[in-house]
Amino acid sequence: TPYTVTRVRDLAALRDAVRAFRAKGLSVGFVPTMGALHAGHLALVEHAKSLCDVVVVSIFVNPKQFAPHEDFGRYPRQEDRDAALLATVGCDLVYLPEADLMYPDVFASTVHVDGPALTLEGEFRPQFFDGVATVVLKLFNQVQPDVAVFGEKDYQQLQVVKTFVRDLDLPVRVVGLATVREADGLALSSRNAYLSADERRTAARLIVELNTVAEVVRSGGDRAAALQTATENLRAAGFGPVDYITLRDAETLAEAGPDTRALRLLAAAWLGKTRLIDNIAI
Ligand code: PAJ
Repeated sequence: TPYTVTRVRDLAALRDAVRAFRAKGLSVGFVPTMGALHAGHLALVEHAKSLCDVVVVSIFVNPKQFAPHEDFGRYPRQEDRDAALLATVGCDLVYLPEADLMYPDVFASTVHVDGPALTLEGEFRPQFFDGVATVVLKLFNQVQPDVAVFGEKDYQQLQVVKTFVRDLDLPVRVVGLATVREADGLALSSRNAYLSADERRTAARLIVELNTVAEVVRSGGDRAAALQTATENLRAAGFGPVDYITLRDAETLAEAGPDTRALRLLAAAWLGKTRLIDNIAI
């Protein structure tokens, strides 16, 4: 028998369903997504399921985190396929709010985040993290989960969410999960669907260069030279502009100095019309 998963679209139905879970004494895990699900998203659901009795997944392509020139309009939407995939990993409920439920005509409040949100993605996509924080706060208030699971694929997003959850005393435990990768190392991403076959082959070079820099850093080599070489190698391999490839404090995302203890290496680079991001621990 095929598995199925209950889909709810309005807030009252979501609250009823979550109230019913709570009445049974069940703990609630939550995985927010924008759909076009892949094995990375499914790993988050499985992890949430290992931490909680039931798991709610939201699918909402959040207009507030896209700039006008970005890919909101062509972001892949495949609800039936997503629901079928979620059923296979034991997701208990899919929440699919409509845009006008999330952002009615009169909508006047935004969560503004600084700190780890100001740099990197925040520089190249100035509206991005306020848009993410606003929708994540709304979703947390709607679902009211005990635990929310985010991927390290979007490492800066994970740090931004952890920071505002702590700053604003939200009663949610935020858990990060390691990036799920293809056999050649490319981080799974809904946006990989934009890549041509040629670009797809080139894309794997990003993690190769990150691993090379990480080795240099671990062995005490010349960090600046390694970062420079990585940029040049990506360009030579067929990448367009490298927005950044940089060593940061793993928590604050401030520029790393010689004494920074926990380091994270993060990169964003263009491949044709597609912008790829990735990161690794040192
Ligand atoms: P989306 O890009 O759909 O990602 C949803 C979650 O899946 C995020 O926590 C992301 O880090 C995680 N994820 C994506 N690729 C992954 C991979 N290869 N391995 C592990 N986890 C992966 O991130 C968003 O949506 C949105 O910004 C959202 C938080 C839903 C707010 O709109």
